[in-house]
Amino acid sequence: MSTRLSPTDHPIHEILQARWSPRAFTSDPVSPAQIRSLLEAARWSASGANGQPWSFIVAPREDTQTFELLLGTLVEANQVWAKNAPLLILAAAQVLREPGKPNPWALYDLGQAAAHLSIQATSLGIYVHQMAGFSPDQARAAFAIPEDFQPVTVIAVGSLGSPDDLPAPLREREIADRTRKPLASFVFGSTWGTPSPTLNG
Ligand SMILES: Cc1cc2nc3c(=O)[nH]c(=O)nc-3n(C[C@H](O)[C@H](O)[C@H](O)COP(=O)(O)O)c2cc1C
Repeated sequence: MSTRLSPTDHPIHEILQARWSPRAFTSDPVSPAQIRSLLEAARWSASGANGQPWSFIVAPREDTQTFELLLGTLVEANQVWAKNAPLLILAAAQVLREPGKPNPWALYDLGQAAAHLSIQATSLGIYVHQMAGFSPDQARAAFAIPEDFQPVTVIAVGSLGSPDDLPAPLREREIADRTRKPLASFVFGSTWGTPSPTLNG
C-alpha cells in the first residue's frame, strides 16, 4: 500500500501505519463515491455532546471555479505542490455555539473528523495532506463562511504521485525518513514529565 510505513516502536493497525502526507499526487480524480466515503467517515467521528461542529467545502479539480478559489487561499509554498492534487477540501470548525458562546472542543472535534477522513482515505488507497498554510480570511471571504465557523485547514487528497515530479527541496522531503518523538517524552505516570511505567513492559 505504501513504501513509507511508519517505523513504529509498538504494533499499530496497518491502516494507521500506512498513512502519511505526500506532496506528489497523480492527476487521477478522486471519484464522487470516494469523496462521499471520506466525508461519511468524518461524519461518524465522535464529538462533544454529538455537536458535530464541522463543515467542509469540497473542491474537485473538475469544479474549476471552486478549486481555483480554494487553491488561491494557500500560501505559495503549498500551492506549488497542492495545485496538482485532484481534490482540495476546506475544513471549518463551528467555534461559536451562538454569539459570545464558544465551543472549547470544536477544534478537537474537527481534528478528529479529519483523522477519520484521512484513515478512510488510506483504506481506499488514496492519500491526504492537511495544510494550515492558507489564509482563513481569504477563505472566509471567498466562500462567505459565517462568523461562527473558523476555517482551520485545507486538505489535499489524491493518489500517490512520484517524488520525481516535485521540485528538488520537496523531493528530498518526500523521501526523507519519517520520525516521531519517543513515547517516553510525552506519556507520563504520577509525575508530569516522568515517563509512565507502562512504557517499560
Ligand atoms: C494541522 C496541520 C497543518 C499542516 N500544515 C501543513 C502545511 O501548511 N504544509 C505542509 O506541507 N504540510 C502541512 N502539514 C503536514 C505535516 O507537516 C505532516 O502531517 C507531519 O510532518 C507529519 O508527517 P506525516 O503526516 O507524513 O506523518 C500539516 C498537518 C497538520 C495536521
